[in-house]
Amino acid sequence: MAIGVFDSGVGGLSVHRALVDRLPQADFLYLADQANAPYGGKGGEEIVDLTREGCIRLFDQGASLVILACNTASAIALRRLQQTWLPTYRQSLGRAVNVLGIIVPTIEAATGLPWEHEAERRGDKVERLDVLGVFSTPGTARSRVYEIEIDKRRQDVAVFSEPCPDLAGMIEANAAPQDLLAKITAHVLALSQRIGRMPDRAILGCTHYELVADLFRQALPAGTPLIHQPVATAEAVVRYLAQHPEYDPGKSGLRRFLTTGEPGAQNDLVKAFWGAPLSFDAA
Ligand code: DGL
Repeated sequence: MAIGVFDSGVGGLSVHRALVDRLPQADFLYLADQANAPYGGKGGEEIVDLTREGCIRLFDQGASLVILACNTASAIALRRLQQTWLPTYRQSLGRAVNVLGIIVPTIEAATGLPWEHEAERRGDKVERLDVLGVFSTPGTARSRVYEIEIDKRRQDVAVFSEPCPDLAGMIEANAAPQDLLAKITAHVLALSQRIGRMPDRAILGCTHYELVADLFRQALPAGTPLIHQPVATAEAVVRYLAQHPEYDPGKSGLRRFLTTGEPGAQNDLVKAFWGAPLSFDAA
């Protein structure tokens, strides 16, 4: 058995890398749905359907646990799939399978509070507001998942989302770093104008953006802390596996990279992030 990692494209590699760092012996299957990327501007039903198809491919290839290394799929599809599809699918397969997302661990990291925690609303005056900027796809921003879930836990944290409609597509298309920096700078400015100042901290709420995290660091005020979603996710998966021995992550160190799109070498942005050329096989 193996751990499946799913994204619309190459963004989930950021999560894959953090998972491999924490679970080097485990077997990993990575699936990029590049035939249908980007997901961020698609409607909810289409994202649910594509995410379900991706999970089925990974389970068919031997995954026991699938990590949705995609904020858009985690925000829009995960709950629906867990509630309405997984229970019967699991029965039909006759083995333990599950799908986990990356937003819960990110919110835990951003708030310092476990998912179960609900803040007591005492109406206390908040002395100093911690302003958190979330850069994401339009789909994730529309879901308001970060605003809603963080507000439940921390009244002293204000969340402002900045949808970045073209950015994941530009990263998939190997855009030039200066064009990406110009786009990211424009988004940082737009967000800061809406807030009235720069954010105190930021979440790169689309896994593709991790591949160009340095460009976000350049565009944000020096030293702005970035909540590191891949590491938060990897820590959560390690804890989950320790509590759920029914999901077998394998132990032969397998690494397979599959795409629904054009197989072959991935682009220069991926190569720079990965530190070596990376090639995907046909799914
Ligand atoms: N990397 C994905 C995310 O975290 C999806 C980006 C896209 O396909 O638009 O949201």
